[in-house]
Amino acid sequence: MDLIMRARMESGHLLDSCIGAADRALRAVFAPAQASRPAPAQAGEPPGERSRLSEAERRQAAALMRVNHAGEIAAQALYHGQALVARSEATRELLLKAAREESDHLAWCERRLRELDSRPSLLNPLWYAGSFAIGALAALMGDRTSLGFVVETERQVEGHLDEHLARLPRDDARSRAILQTMRTDEIAHGLSAKAAGGVELPSPVRFLMRNTARLMTSAAYWI
Ligand SMILES: [Fe+2]
Ligand SMILES: [Fe+2]
Repeated sequence: MDLIMRARMESGHLLDSCIGAADRALRAVFAPAQASRPAPAQAGEPPGERSRLSEAERRQAAALMRVNHAGEIAAQALYHGQALVARSEATRELLLKAAREESDHLAWCERRLRELDSRPSLLNPLWYAGSFAIGALAALMGDRTSLGFVVETERQVEGHLDEHLARLPRDDARSRAILQTMRTDEIAHGLSAKAAGGVELPSPVRFLMRNTARLMTSAAYWI
């Protein structure tokens, strides 16, 4: 009797987790992202600032911001996939809290894309699904590896943001301010995952992660 009750409770937990994961996925990909902080430079720069950009500069800035938006969709998915499989409740909470903080980044990139008369990547559902699977897979290796995966992801994102900061049109102060704040946040995410026990990943895994990210960023630049 006890066993049947326990099996029922466990399948109930699993169903709850799956419903929660599906809800988070739909919100991340299809609902407008909610920011808990104002967009950086939102107050300092007049909204008409875009007019200082030439057409070529606007297109370049939009393509870069589309890549960053796709990256934030992928970040949501990684965290959600890792949270679904996390062993300890503390790790799950840390991951879901980080995902909520990341939703500021998503909202800021979304808004900046609109200001630049552009749109998010059409492949976002694909980036979400792929990243969710990768996140879940990383979490199967245990919580410390999963946290190590966050450390490595954020390290790579920091490098990627540095590259984008160098490629943004000189006069695009609004996009630059967003990327700079994101960079500061990502460094903090990496440090807290390391402090929570994240381990260094083997170099073939780091290599694979870098190449998967490269594939995504080059596709999202155009599509
Ligand atoms: Fe982010
Ligand atoms: Fe982050």
